[in-house]
Order: sequence, then structure tokens, then C-alpha cells
Amino acid sequence: MRRRIKSCCSRLCRLPAGKGAAALALALALLPGCGGGKDDGLRIGVALYTQDDTFISTVAQNLEGIVREAEGETGRQITLFIADGRSSQATQMDQVDRFLSRGCDVLCVNLVDRTAAAVIADKAEAEGVPLIFFNRQPVEEDIRRWDRIYYVGASAQESGALQGELVLDAWQADRETLDRSGDGVLQYVMLEGEPGHQDSLLRTEYSVKALTDAGVEVEKLGNETANWNRAQAAARTAQWLEEFGDGIEVIFSNNDDMALGAIDALAETERSRWPLIVGVDATAPAREAVAAGQLYGTVHNDSRGQAQAMMDLALALWNGEDPAQAVDLEEGHYVWLPYRAVTLANLEEFQEG
Ligand code: BGC
Repeated sequence: MRRRIKSCCSRLCRLPAGKGAAALALALALLPGCGGGKDDGLRIGVALYTQDDTFISTVAQNLEGIVREAEGETGRQITLFIADGRSSQATQMDQVDRFLSRGCDVLCVNLVDRTAAAVIADKAEAEGVPLIFFNRQPVEEDIRRWDRIYYVGASAQESGALQGELVLDAWQADRETLDRSGDGVLQYVMLEGEPGHQDSLLRTEYSVKALTDAGVEVEKLGNETANWNRAQAAARTAQWLEEFGDGIEVIFSNNDDMALGAIDALAETERSRWPLIVGVDATAPAREAVAAGQLYGTVHNDSRGQAQAMMDLALALWNGEDPAQAVDLEEGHYVWLPYRAVTLANLEEFQEG
């Protein structure tokens, strides 16, 4: 990726999770008024769908770190205003309105509800404020509403395929161990993320497709949404363990937090043999689980790369430069970060994020 950080020097304004509208109002009251001009520095409003999500809070932490690093490189001030949407689109809409009315120069929005993108896009365009959606991908029609709307993310299909290939490799390397029932069919359960999220839909589909495309016969014993959440995943897995016992050969999980929930449920049962478990994200706790041999593998979701791309885009837009010179921009609107498969074999390459 091309990187051109031209200006920096930062202030951070983090809105604590759970403090709600009062905290947001207080922080936004500190925002300088509109029309402050470039001398006041770059002000970026970052709206998170919830700060309680492990992956999203990692992106936010990376963004803060990148702003701090940038501080040393140029003489300009960058202020991040981070708002927690607490899984409410109405709350996030209010936060976006405040970011706009108080003069943010660029918005980064991690939508609560992907279908709300058009309304936010129109608000940003009306104020002439560039808008970067991230992680929760709006439909293409919404991205194309205005030429200063962008999406920074990673291909959901790619993450599913890589996850499936991890299981395929294990099947091909040691089929006898994986196929405990010895019936030549791979029995699995699927822990799904939030319904309607592109990553839930496509990871679910493409993980299994990687196996069936390679000629592996599979049997789905169960699939349930656990909304990206560790505790919900533990509860679903506990039910499956009661129902299917050792019949489960693989647990696919649309993200690492839910894979860790499955591990929690298995640890409770004190089984000697566990199914093979795979996640997505390569968060710090998931990497520990890989190191401990509990999680067979995961797929690195590049939180730092996504944060860096947002910062590079924001700076270019603010400086009035061509964003395509700052990031690898596809079709004028999209920045795609690659996924990478992670197992014990290459774990040491993934120590950050
Ligand atoms: C991540 C999940 C996260 C979700 C939030 C996905 O890309 O893999 O861990 O919960 O984004 O939108």
C-alpha cells in the first residue's frame, strides 16, 4: 500500500464506552466550531457500532496509535473523536449529526445497521464532509451516492475461503484424526455472526464451499447465530455438545470471539478430544488460544491496516489531494486489505493488533 502521511500532531478525544449521550455531548462541546480552517488541524469523527466488540475496539486502538505516531512526523494537529453507538442506529445517527454540526473534517463510520448508509451519506454530502465507512459494508449503490464516500474493509468471501482451506489442509494432512466417526464425511457446526452482516453471510458460505469444491463431503449438524459474541457462542456450543457429543468434528466460527466461546464450552465439559475449531480475526486472545493448541487456526483481519488506510485517506482528503495517491483505491471508492490464514506454524508473524 502506498502511504503518504503529510501532516500530523494529534489530540485524542475518546468517548468512554457506556457513558452514553451525556459523554458524547460533553466531548463534542469541546470541538471547535465550524469554519476553523486548516490551522485548527484535522478533526476526525469516528462512529463505532459498539465498543464492546473485540475486533472493532482493536481497530479504534490502532487508529489512536497511528494518530500518535503521525504526531511526531508533521507539525499539524489531528484530533480523533470516538463515539460508541452502543448497537443503536438511532444513537449513532445522533452522533453523526453532532460530528457534522460541530465541524468534523472527515467522518469514519462503522454502521450499526448497514441499511442506514444512504441517510448518513446524504447528510455528509450536504455538509461537504468526506465519509469513510469501515468494517460493515454498505451496498454499492449507497457507496456510489457521492464521489467522496469510501469503504475500507476486507473481502468477506476471502476470509471464508481461507478458513475453509485451513480445515481442508487438516483434512488432507490427517483425515483419520479429523474424521473421528470414520464415515468419510466431515460433520460440522457453524457459529454465525450477526444476521445480515456481510461477514456472517459470506464466511458461512465460502468456508464450507472451500471443502465441497475440493470434493470433501460435509454434513451440517447445526448452525446458529451468536452475534459475534463469546458468551452467546458458549451457550450455543454447550447445547450442541449435549445434542451431538463427539459427533461434532469441526466447529466453524465466523469470528474469534465466538470460537473462544466454543472453547469455553468445551473446557467446561472436560473432554479429552476436542473438535477442530477455526475462527477469523487473529485477535490477541485468539492468538493465545492458537499457541495453547485450543484453536486450530484463524484468519488475520488486518485491524491495523484498516486503521492506517482510514488515516491515510482522511489526510489526503483533508489536504485536497488525490486519495488514489494515498491508498490503493479500487473503483474510486474501495480500499481492500488482504486476509491471511494463521496457524501455529506462522503465529509468530502476527504479534500485533
Ligand atoms: C469481525 C468480527 C466483528 C465484526 C463487527 C467482523 O469483520 O470479524 O469479529 O465482530 O466484524 O462488525
